[in-house]
Amino acid sequence: MGSLSGKTIAVVGATGAVGAEMLGILAERGVPDDRVRAVASSRSAGREMAYGEGLVTVTEVTRETFGGVDIALFAASSDLARELAPVAIEAGADVVDNSSAFRMDTAVPLVTPEVNADAIPDRSKGARLIANPNCSTIMLLMAVTPLYRAFGCRRLVVSTYQAVSGAGAAAMDELRTLTTAALAGEDANPTIFSESCAFNVFSHDSPLDPTTGRNKEEQKMLDETRKIWNDASVEITATCVRVPVFRAHTESINIELAEPATVDEVRGSIVGFAGVEIVDDRAANRFPTPLKAAHGDAVLVGRIRPDGSAQPDANGRYRRFDLMCSGDQIRKGAALNAVQIAELL
Ligand SMILES: NC(=O)c1ccc[n+]([C@@H]2O[C@H](COP(=O)([O-])OP(=O)(O)OC[C@H]3O[C@@H](n4cnc5c(N)ncnc54)[C@H](OP(=O)(O)O)[C@@H]3O)[C@@H](O)[C@H]2O)c1
Repeated sequence: MGSLSGKTIAVVGATGAVGAEMLGILAERGVPDDRVRAVASSRSAGREMAYGEGLVTVTEVTRETFGGVDIALFAASSDLARELAPVAIEAGADVVDNSSAFRMDTAVPLVTPEVNADAIPDRSKGARLIANPNCSTIMLLMAVTPLYRAFGCRRLVVSTYQAVSGAGAAAMDELRTLTTAALAGEDANPTIFSESCAFNVFSHDSPLDPTTGRNKEEQKMLDETRKIWNDASVEITATCVRVPVFRAHTESINIELAEPATVDEVRGSIVGFAGVEIVDDRAANRFPTPLKAAHGDAVLVGRIRPDGSAQPDANGRYRRFDLMCSGDQIRKGAALNAVQIAELL
């Protein structure tokens, strides 16, 4: 079970898409149910959630929830995190927060363990607050950090194909309902998204800055990548889009390396990077997809090829490459990443 052994863990938002997944991962890790406090809003008090072979009962989160808790995993809103993370820390619990509340706070580490575990401080100054990055940022950095380490990175151009579950459990219900209605030829209005997510593709639903034209999801990818790599020099731009997929995000990535490389060298840099699996079978036209990635821990990377507009140097090396990745954003993009951080605390 690793470093979670003997620890009491609170899951705040246990009834949501991320919180329910956290419960599943903690059970897989062998954390006994009497060491887990599943908490959510008063709406869910008394609800039973699956925990391994058994069930845990949800209670309402209060300021008293955190007494005796070693680690609090927050999977609720930014507002709730701002209100209760300081309370949990005051009670002595380390906090890992999945919301965007603290991600760009310079005093708060933003961590993907395979990329920057060294950003986690020790406990000498008391209980710690660690922010979990945005799910799209995690997928991107899992795919390109091996290239960044081996060859450097000047520029990233990213397009996302994001599953509806990134907007929570209710968004999955909406995709199911609207798809069923559309197939039956019935009218049904969306409630979670402003556009129908059934048989449709639309610009990410996060608020859009009228000055820059970027939505919040795109801005998060820019800001968080530079913070996690601790490298302000990386040029990065993103276009974030929702697609009618239940779970697992996919991304198309164009990377300009600082040092040129061959396809084999790029592929070789990814092999062995923890948490990443290459799915890149040109002969079979088999590449990363959300269905292959869903419910798995690995971020799948493939379609690794020189940028079609790039010219090789005299040694057959290229500076620009295209690639794709798919990863389960509820797991590696949120719940699993948070539990991995908890295991390092
Ligand atoms: N979904 C993803 O792929 C993903 C990926 C990365 C990060 N995140 C982030 O993770 C967090 C959770 O997302 P989610 O997708 O799991 O959302 P969700 O499915 O909508 O679940 C939200 C959870 O928060 C709880 N909650 C809401 N208001 C509360 C309150 N006032 N007091 C206590 N609990 C409250 C809900 O409890 P009730 O059931 O009682 O309302 C529910 O358990 C968000 O900050 C989200 O941005 C999500």
